[in-house]
Amino acid sequence: MTSAKGFRAVKGTRDLFPPESEIYAAVEDIAREVFSSWGYGEIRTPILESTELFARSVGETTDIVHKEMYTFSDRKGRSLTLRPENTAGVVRAALERGLDRLPRPLRLWYTGEQFRYERPQKGRYREFRQIGAEMIGVPGSAADAEVLTMLFDFLRRLGFADLSVTLNCVPAGAARESFASALREHVRPHAARLGEDDRRRIEENPLRLFDSKDPETQSALAEAPRTLDFLDAAAAEHFASVKRMLSEAGIPFTESSAIVRGLDYYTVTVFEVVSAGLGAQNAILGGGRYDNLFADMGGPGLPAVGFAIGEDRLVEALPRDPRAARDLWYVLPGSAAEFAYATLVAREIRASHPGAIVETDLSGRGFAKGFSRASQLLEGDGHAPFRVSSVRVVSVGSQEKEAGTVKVKDLSKRTEETLPLSSLAGQGALR
Ligand code: HAM
Repeated sequence: MTSAKGFRAVKGTRDLFPPESEIYAAVEDIAREVFSSWGYGEIRTPILESTELFARSVGETTDIVHKEMYTFSDRKGRSLTLRPENTAGVVRAALERGLDRLPRPLRLWYTGEQFRYERPQKGRYREFRQIGAEMIGVPGSAADAEVLTMLFDFLRRLGFADLSVTLNCVPAGAARESFASALREHVRPHAARLGEDDRRRIEENPLRLFDSKDPETQSALAEAPRTLDFLDAAAAEHFASVKRMLSEAGIPFTESSAIVRGLDYYTVTVFEVVSAGLGAQNAILGGGRYDNLFADMGGPGLPAVGFAIGEDRLVEALPRDPRAARDLWYVLPGSAAEFAYATLVAREIRASHPGAIVETDLSGRGFAKGFSRASQLLEGDGHAPFRVSSVRVVSVGSQEKEAGTVKVKDLSKRTEETLPLSSLAGQGALR
């Protein structure tokens, strides 16, 4: 609905303008560079999926499915949901394409919008972005170690120096059932003190109690049985091996039995990375192994492990600007009569200086104002889309146009020279 003030973005959604959008793009470019160097190709799956997909994978009794999904009926009455996460879509897509038509192991990464109906606050949005990777088809601990090592290569490329990953191992299969029963027995005596949702969880899915923010539930969970005491021999050996490999790879980690993750599909390894700088919403990313998900979704049993980074939180926590600094050429016509010549000059420079930004001043304000705008860009205008390492003003007045020349002033080096236009095309002539 319009208000007197006009249209506004939907609560919990945001517009990203430059330079912020350029910072997101730089982070995504670095993700592509790092992940592709590990053999991961990008997958793009639809934002819309059937509601049933998430109920089956993320789990009916999770907060996400129970109360955070954007679900609606389309015109034919099908129940559709804006994806709250991307792993379910990747698994669905791989099964639908046919696993025999895909490489094995299947290494994929993705980036894109996700939607969860949560109470918006700093670092928590209703539309947010994730950057994730999934490694499908390798059962051994080397796959867990690979995704975590790749993840840290990416985080270090962005300048994060002191993050560490918190690991846990959750029991799967029969061991999970025993853990769930032990947890149920432990919490039942406290049930009367707990909220309705958590009382329901005790019976339906006691592992989900760990997601509860209710202090009563938290205190009921103190002294609760620990996941690590319920691991079978295979899971315990897998976990020990993951930790050995991470130590060898120099990836800092700690263990915490409190991490069970808010999604039902995890088996064995689970992990999170938190950043102190982010306040209450401090999980930058989460992930783990999901060895039963393919089978649960009707496919063959196929082991997999992956992670998703909350891109918005990552950007908020960035220790440095990820954008590469670029040379800026500011082409400045003396008046409207030189616009066409200026455009020609700008195109010459673009062609001969790949990677440079070449901007033409179309204001017709004359040289003095144009020069002061160019100096602003050198000093770092907070609204400029790009990070600038040098600024050259290329002034073209009637004389230059006549003579087929340009006047180039390097604002940082404070040098000036007049050159024939033809020399711009010669590589490096102006450097
Ligand atoms: P998740 O822990 O639900 O896992 O989400 C991963 C990350 O997304 C979180 O750590 C957080 O940084 C970010 N995130 C979640 N909700 C919000 C929000 N409302 N606003 C901003 N950021 C948010 C998954 O989604 C799994 N699919 C990860 C995975 C991939 N596991 C295996 N493969």
